[in-house]
Amino acid sequence: MPDYLDVAIRAARVAGRIHKKYFNSGLKVKTKSSSFDLLTVADTEAEEAAVSLIKGSFARHNFLCEEYRYRKTDSEYTWIIDPLDGTNNFASGMPIFCASVALVHKGRILVGAVYDLTRDELFYARRGKGAYLNGRRIRVNSAATLKQSLLITGFYYSRSTEMIQTLRIIRKFFLKHILGLRRLGAAALDLCYVACGRAAGFWEFELSPWDFAAGKLIIEEAGGRVSGARGEKVPLTKKYFIVASNRKVHHKMLEVINSKR
Ligand code: IPD
Ligand code: CA
Ligand code: CA
Repeated sequence: MPDYLDVAIRAARVAGRIHKKYFNSGLKVKTKSSSFDLLTVADTEAEEAAVSLIKGSFARHNFLCEEYRYRKTDSEYTWIIDPLDGTNNFASGMPIFCASVALVHKGRILVGAVYDLTRDELFYARRGKGAYLNGRRIRVNSAATLKQSLLITGFYYSRSTEMIQTLRIIRKFFLKHILGLRRLGAAALDLCYVACGRAAGFWEFELSPWDFAAGKLIIEEAGGRVSGARGEKVPLTKKYFIVASNRKVHHKMLEVINSKR
């Protein structure tokens, strides 16, 4: 039987090939749920390519992907895929985007792979076996205070309550004198950047399972932690507020996120 991680990596790379085909080529862009949520032909084509590659090895497995719905099978295995994470960057010619592929069995993520074509960076992990970037073992960084922490966040497409709360949280973090804050625009990569120590933590309102499934395993296998806004376990079946960190600053991040001012 083919190896799950090997198939996840091949699926992320095949999506990356589609990104390459269309990046900077004057794509036709459509909007999805809101005028801030874009869709390109690369999103759908990358998903078709990744799903078809996986079905070649695991025809009966289930799929939870961003662009299409798939008929449910009786399999206990589900592939969770974001074929192009960072579409707004991609469509603007900004080279920060990736493909994210994870395999879940009975609520446990078994393998995850995130491929960033522009830097040729492949992040991946197998449960219990560590996390890797291009074959090199990665670990979260050692920042122990918020002052030492470079943090990342993301803005949910809605410009309403979540946006106001995100701005409030940003203010609270700066009042704690964090080292800095970045908004890269691709949540799966944000998580991998925490995993490899480029940032100490990340939070975002309402990420979807395809944004965070692979990155969650990669962070955990790199020694970090991923939770909900109150430190609770994150379900893999619905949108969720995600807090991720190098573990050392996790409680401090939760404290700031939940503090009144
Ligand atoms: C989005 C990106 C972005 C995050 C949004 C996501 P998409 O994914 O990850 O960084 O802020 O919440 O929806 O739509 O580019 O796949
Ligand atoms: Ca996404
Ligand atoms: Ca996407």
